[in-house]
Parts: sequence; structure tokens; C-alpha cells
Amino acid sequence: MSWVDRFIGMFSLDLGIDLGTANTLVAVQGRGVVISEPSVVAVKKGTKQVMMDGNAVGEQAKIMLGKNPGHIEVIRPMKDGVIADFEITEAMLRYFIRRTHGRRGPFRPRVVIAVPSGINEVEKRAVTNSAMNAGARQVFLIPEPMASAIGAGLPFADPVGSMIVDIGGGTTEVAVISLAGIVASESVRVAGDELSMSIVKYLKTEYNVVIGENTAEMVKHQIGCAIAPAEETRMSIRGRDMRTGMPRAIEVTANEVHEALKPQLMAIVNSVKMVLERTQPELAADLMERGICLAGGTALLKGLPELLSRETGLPVRMAQDPMTCVARGCAALLDDLDAVKQILELGMDQ
Ligand SMILES: Nc1ncnc2c1ncn2[C@@H]1O[C@H](COP(=O)(O)OP(=O)(O)OP(=O)(O)O)[C@@H](O)[C@H]1O
Ligand SMILES: [Mg+2]
Repeated sequence: MSWVDRFIGMFSLDLGIDLGTANTLVAVQGRGVVISEPSVVAVKKGTKQVMMDGNAVGEQAKIMLGKNPGHIEVIRPMKDGVIADFEITEAMLRYFIRRTHGRRGPFRPRVVIAVPSGINEVEKRAVTNSAMNAGARQVFLIPEPMASAIGAGLPFADPVGSMIVDIGGGTTEVAVISLAGIVASESVRVAGDELSMSIVKYLKTEYNVVIGENTAEMVKHQIGCAIAPAEETRMSIRGRDMRTGMPRAIEVTANEVHEALKPQLMAIVNSVKMVLERTQPELAADLMERGICLAGGTALLKGLPELLSRETGLPVRMAQDPMTCVARGCAALLDDLDAVKQILELGMDQ
């Protein structure tokens, strides 16, 4: 490290960022998670101009999803774990970096960002450029499952196999890790968003009722279940009747929602099985003993640990604070970036 770097480092606060499809989290060395907001931005319709009323990014913008007036557009700039709208992602990152860094004047932070393990070079470049343009001084990329494993406290650097399954909004990341490297992994673009979409589609075909994204998510959280539900809970849902165009309320059971979720859940289970099949015998033996560690928001779906355990025959446990593992894992690496170079990739164009 040069003296210039050291001098700048005295004033800047380095950040770990989980740029997620559903939520963006920022963690600071030694301080933990300082920002956790939905990855949602409100802009002036037809422009890339972020609304300036203080409700434009995060939670407040998410509330507007599907309820926005004509002159506002509410955008989720990340899709399937990667950047779908470059400019908006950059605006969102700039907002979050400024919020963390506000008082520290012109100094730019070094940033460790988690990216899905399956992304290509173009997608990596997009993330790096977004962060650089948003104010980062240097950007390091880390595969999301590695960050998640570190945040979950798995012994990632030991010569022992650990399996992490991080199920987020856009992607399911499955990886077996040993000696600070990914031994086998799979990244599928099926996770919480697809589960919510399945509920929307189900109600359309079975009831001719259209509901919005936020309502579907609420149904999933309240009565969604990964295994056949033990008791028959019901929920009243309001939407728009496709035939009459009028508002209509319907009652849906947990069993119906479970049926709607099944195909996507199977895709998630299959990605875990595929990784297990590709794991070397010595490491597979470790996994039998140590089990699978679950992280990500969709891991909180009722019955998900049971489903995975039943389908794989392995013990399954939930990481502590599963929605913040990735951000905490990124921040943990900032302590000594030189020592962990092998698991980081320097963002390009720097
Ligand atoms: N209790 C719950 N039951 C079911 N799903 C939940 C629950 N809580 C959160 N989720 C889902 O978790 C998802 C968000 O998880 P998370 O914040 O880990 O995703 P992300 O990191 O933004 O996405 P990705 O890693 O795929 O880019 C959403 O789809 C949300 O609906
Ligand atoms: Mg995630």
C-alpha cells in the first residue's frame, strides 16, 4: 500500500455492498450493516431523473410499486441478480454511498461488491462501472455465495467442505467451498421474484384476478409454504377482475399457494442436487456431517429448510440473520484486502 493510499484510507470509509435484486445492503468495516433498503427507484416518467422529494429510493419507492401516478415511474434496476438498468443502478448506488459517506468530503471509498457466481464479463463490467461512477475509488468483486458463506460464519478457508445455499430475490446461489475457493457451484435465475410471479399467474388462470407485485409478495410471506401445509390457512386477497375490470376480493388457501410455488421450488432443489452430484467424495463426506447452510430472504419461506433436507437427505440449518450474510461477508474482507486477494477480483477498467 502506498503512502497516498494510506493517507486517503484515513479519511474514507470502505464499504461492502450487496447489490441485490430485491434489496441493497451496505456494510461498513467494524460497524456492520448501515443501510438495508429495497432496490427500487422512483424516476420522472420517461426520463432517468430520480425524483427529488426524498422518497425516491428504497422503502418509500417500493411502497409506490403499482400505485404510482402517471408522471412517476417506479423501477427495479436489478433483475435476476444483474443490472437491468445501468443508469438507475448507478443513481441508486450513488445515493447509498453518499448516505453512508456524507460527512467525509471528497474521499472515495474502496468497495467490495458481491455478484452472482454465474455472471459474464459484460455484466461484471457493468457493476464495476456503476460503482466507480457512483463514487467508488476502487472496486473488488466477489462471488455472492462466497460472501454469503463468510457472512454466515462458515469455515471457508479451512480444508473442509461447506455448502451454502443463498436464495435471494433474483437468483439462487449454491456453492461448495473449501480452502477459500469455490469447488462446485450453480447459479440459477429462479428465486423469490419467480415465486411471487407464480402466485400472480396462478390467480390469473384460476380466478381471473390480477394482483400486483407487492400483494403477491405479501401472500407469499403470509401463507406461502415450501412443503404441503399442515393446516389449511386462508387469506383474503384483493385484486382486479380481468373480465369485469372491477375490484374483487377472493379467498385463497395455503395449499393452493403451495401448488403454485412447486415448479419453482423444484428448480431450486434441483440446483442443489446438481452441485452435490459434482462434489468430490471427500468433500461430500464433510457435507453429510456438516450439512447445508441456508441464507438469503427466500430461505425464510416456511418449510424451505424441511424441503431441502427431505430432498437431499442432509441436515439443513439457517444462517444467523440470513438476509445480511452477503453484505457482512463483503465488509469482513475489507479488514485486510491484501490477504484475501485470491478470492477477490479487481473490477476491470481501473
Ligand atoms: N418470510 C419470507 N418468506 C418468503 N420469502 C421471503 C420472506 N422474507 C423475504 N422473502 C423474500 O426474499 C427475497 C429477498 O431476499 P434477498 O434480500 O436475500 O434478495 P437479494 O439479495 O436482493 O436478491 P439476489 O441475491 O437474488 O440478487 C424477496 O423475494 C422476498 O420476497
Ligand atoms: Mg442476494
